Amino acid sequence: MLGNFTYHNPTKLYFGEDALGYLKDELKNYGSNVLLVYGGGSIKKSGLYDEITAILGDAGKNVAEVAGVMPNPTVEKLNEGVKTARENKTDFILAVGGGSVCDYSKAVSVSVNCGDDPWEKYYIRFEEPTCDIIPVGCVLTMAGTGSEMNGGAVITNHATKQKIGHVFGDDVMPKFSILNPKYTMTLPKYQMTAGIYDIMNHICEQYFSGEDDNTSDYISEGLMRGLITASRKAVIDPTDYEARSNIMWTATWALNTLVAKGKSTDWMVHMLGQAVGAYTDATHGMTLAAVSLPYYRYIMPYGLKKFARFAAEVWGISREGKTDEQLAEAGLAAMENWMKELGLVMKISELGVTGDMLEGIADATLILDGGYKIFDRNDVMTVLKASM
Ligand code: NZQ
Ligand code: ZN
Repeated sequence: MLGNFTYHNPTKLYFGEDALGYLKDELKNYGSNVLLVYGGGSIKKSGLYDEITAILGDAGKNVAEVAGVMPNPTVEKLNEGVKTARENKTDFILAVGGGSVCDYSKAVSVSVNCGDDPWEKYYIRFEEPTCDIIPVGCVLTMAGTGSEMNGGAVITNHATKQKIGHVFGDDVMPKFSILNPKYTMTLPKYQMTAGIYDIMNHICEQYFSGEDDNTSDYISEGLMRGLITASRKAVIDPTDYEARSNIMWTATWALNTLVAKGKSTDWMVHMLGQAVGAYTDATHGMTLAAVSLPYYRYIMPYGLKKFARFAAEVWGISREGKTDEQLAEAGLAAMENWMKELGLVMKISELGVTGDMLEGIADATLILDGGYKIFDRNDVMTVLKASM
């Protein structure tokens, strides 16, 4: 049942090859001290850094920078960004990069005017911001996380071996995001396919929950079908603009709260993947790919009808002559073939997980209760072992 809800997503999107042209006008809405945040250098190589600094210069902004935001941004880097923003009296944060840069900018935005330690406040105590939030805008260079239109901000603490996401509310979502599919064309294949699987799994995490026959499920099926088609084209020809734009647009809708409406939502693949990430610092989408088939095969009997529907509606497998179980298994087999076609990492051992880490990873796995089977620690261990 869809039930009662409010839907409001405040992020304005500019999509397409001309999207960066709107940055100039957007900048007029914010103060003069801009913090430009980016990653390890891909935007310098691609020339986007030069384009953006020219626009900021023309707009008369005072620009401070935080460079080197790493994939899976750390708590130490967060503290550095907060310090830089305070020193420069930042009025507006411009994130240029992938989900890590965008997430990181949101985490900085809620911490600059707040006296508390951000890790303790947002990632241990899960409090909401009580101080002024600095507005964030995003120029996205990688499709996957949906960070461009959501309140998520995932931070890693290597000292405590924790990778934790805080999903903030409307006030923290980017004020605007600029989505030019062309920017994603310089991604290495590994990152492109990791992003594609991240998108797929975001949809699955919401789709595989509840037994309802609601609009969210139909939207999800369409998004998944479109993603599968586009991903097959993009792997063959990474310069296929239509495929890359369909992937980018699907990523945004996969995780901007829309398809969660009416769903309890699972998110256990993400909890397992994040725990693997805390131990290995592996690429987010690959951690999901490596645990998800063992997870879905394990919970399939508890959500059999939905897995059968997934096979028929997403993978186009005929229902004829098959039990629900046979159909459901065929659906997961089709997903497995597609994942192999993309060249995804299918085992956590390939991401650096060794047998002696498993107990620790199980301890670091947060257990949520929205899926078809509510896990205990033994279930977590079973799935982790099957993912080796
Ligand atoms: O740092 P640079 O040099 O820019 O290189 C990055 C990075 O090495 C590179 N890259 C990005 N755009 C590029 C490019 N290289 C060439 N050309 C381009 N156009 O790709 C690498 C990965 O980038 P990253 O931002 O880390 O990837 P992604 O977008 O997958 O973000 C991952 C982070 O987002 C979190 C993850 O946990 C992880 O920390 N997530 C955020 C979510 C949210 N906000 O809702 C949900 C997700 O489930 C996820 O947990
Ligand atoms: Zn994800």
